[in-house]
Amino acid sequence: MLLIKNISQLVRVGDSSPKVGPQMEELKVIDDAFLVIDNGKIVDFGKAKLLNDEYKFAKVLDVHRKVVLPGFIDPHTHFVFAGDRSEEFKMRLKGIPYIDILKKGGGILSTVKATREISFNKLLEISSKRLDAFLSYGVTTLEGKSGYGLDKVTEVKQLKVMNKLNKREDIDIITTYLGAHAVPKEYENNSDSYVDYIIKEVMPSIADENLAEFCDVFCDEGAFNYQQSKKLLKSAVKLGFKLKIHADEIINTGAAQLAGELQAVSADHLLKTSKKGLISLKNNNVIAVLLPLTAFSLQEEYADVRKMIEMGIPVALATDLNPGSSYSQSIPLLLSLAVMYMNMSPEEAINALTINAACALSKEKEVGSIEVGKKADLLIIDAPHYNHLFYNFSVNLVQKVFKNGKLVFNNDLKNRKIKGD
Ligand code: NIG
Ligand code: FE
Repeated sequence: MLLIKNISQLVRVGDSSPKVGPQMEELKVIDDAFLVIDNGKIVDFGKAKLLNDEYKFAKVLDVHRKVVLPGFIDPHTHFVFAGDRSEEFKMRLKGIPYIDILKKGGGILSTVKATREISFNKLLEISSKRLDAFLSYGVTTLEGKSGYGLDKVTEVKQLKVMNKLNKREDIDIITTYLGAHAVPKEYENNSDSYVDYIIKEVMPSIADENLAEFCDVFCDEGAFNYQQSKKLLKSAVKLGFKLKIHADEIINTGAAQLAGELQAVSADHLLKTSKKGLISLKNNNVIAVLLPLTAFSLQEEYADVRKMIEMGIPVALATDLNPGSSYSQSIPLLLSLAVMYMNMSPEEAINALTINAACALSKEKEVGSIEVGKKADLLIIDAPHYNHLFYNFSVNLVQKVFKNGKLVFNNDLKNRKIKGD
């Protein structure tokens, strides 16, 4: 049992339901608080003055008036990949559009080549390193997508890497099958046949082996159209997958309407979505997962989050870590962009990266807020007020990370002893 005391602000966030509209402005905060962890779960918390000797046998961590938050949740990443696209990044800096690079066989397809060639063990190790960076920024649960194999063997390899890392590493990993990420070379100009291949040959074995919880489709220009996406996702539902859609990133394809129609758990990107698409999200309680690091890296307009919140759509935030459009795990930069360029308030941004992000992964009963019985996934923030996450912009203020009650990251430099000192 561990008692964390002298907490300046315990940011509980809320309960286990998605926040919409004005609720996104609300954060449940207890000033001057304590919190107790036992067996990996949160068992008690409250005002410091109510602390009696009930926990006198517990180990004690005095955080000296720092903020405690639930672990951040990143509901959209592509962290399992091989290869390097830094040259492509330079091309984009010169003004060559992302989609033109893909159409010429680069972009996603160049990562596919590298990911097909790499061994399972090497892929495991490079992907594991990417998780370390996430953990240092306070991410305790994340989603990971396949989609850099496209053929069955490599898609399965990516998903098995994620499942193995989920068992081995501290971060919880939720897996998504994204076979419909691009049309592979073998099916060039024959995307309908590729869709049939996925439905007949790949999806059933991924479902059989229980390798992924979600199925996703890149429904956009240069990838898969509305009809193909609908066919794929309907088959996925029959096999028991929950749904996500990469929707309307490059052009408006009607993907958001499709997300509503099929009651997807989330629709992601939403840079070019029409009013009709947004209404469909709202009417079907689809979570809008917005990816400011991608808009930043592609130098695109940010998603219209104000309109979404005003319409009552639950909004979550994610990094979209991938080798092309968003090569960054930076939660501090993401939070800064959300408040500085998307005009979200600090409270909305925190809700979007905790409870609403948990909802985007259907994990809101386990994580995403500080409630008795939830996992003790907690962050100690080296500041007296959560405002500092934004005010001290783009700086990592995460001092300690607890996952299932266990200390898994510690950046307490002052108290770190160097051997020989
Ligand atoms: O979410 N847009 C499609 N997929 C990724 C990018 C993948 C890549 O460029 O490798 C995204 O931005
Ligand atoms: Fe993505």
